Amino acid sequence: MKELSLHILDIVQNSIKAEAKNIEVLINESEKENALRIVIKDDGCGMDPEFLARVRDPFTTTRTTRKTGMGISLFEAAAVQTGGGLSIESEKGVGTTLKVNFVLDSIDRAPLGDMASTMTTAIGGAPRIDFLYRHTTDKGELVLDTKEIRETLGGVPLDIPEVLQWISEYIKDGLSEI
Ligand SMILES: Nc1ncnc2c1ncn2[C@@H]1O[C@H](COP(=O)(O)OP(=O)(O)OP(=O)(O)O)[C@@H](O)[C@H]1O
Ligand SMILES: [Mg+2]
Repeated sequence: MKELSLHILDIVQNSIKAEAKNIEVLINESEKENALRIVIKDDGCGMDPEFLARVRDPFTTTRTTRKTGMGISLFEAAAVQTGGGLSIESEKGVGTTLKVNFVLDSIDRAPLGDMASTMTTAIGGAPRIDFLYRHTTDKGELVLDTKEIRETLGGVPLDIPEVLQWISEYIKDGLSEI
């Protein structure tokens, strides 16, 4: 069973390939509602309706290196096996929003995994993109906004080890409190 954070990283890679300038990763874990909801939103190239209609099919891809595109179909399968599901909205030239819902206490739900690694890998790999990571639970919220970090750093790039280390610790500390 693949950790959900690794699926999230795959989906964020799609947004990076789509030349997004802004990527949002929103996670809501609610024990009260027995739900885990993940939204990944970008302002990349988007997809036309005809492509969107067949994008969950593992044989739909614009990759040239192989004929299968598994990122979306595997994430959907992980959600469906818990009793949840995946939906995608996309508009050519505007962007794409993927929403994935899981039944929180399903024994078939993969653990969320290491979100600090997922976000630092994404940010370190695409330091010019702005990322907003917002994670809420019934207890509170964690927000990481690279626009704010950039302002504070005043020109220091995000992909240097010291900054990525700081981001990783900020996420770990924040998640331990919610
Ligand atoms: N956020 C997005 N914006 C624009 N196009 C997208 C986006 N996400 C996916 N796509 C399109 O949908 C196709 C299928 O995506 P999917 O993640 O399932 O497979 P893949 O990225 O092609 O391959 P893999 O994920 O296995 O490396 C992609 O090749 C791309 O053309
Ligand atoms: Mg992909």
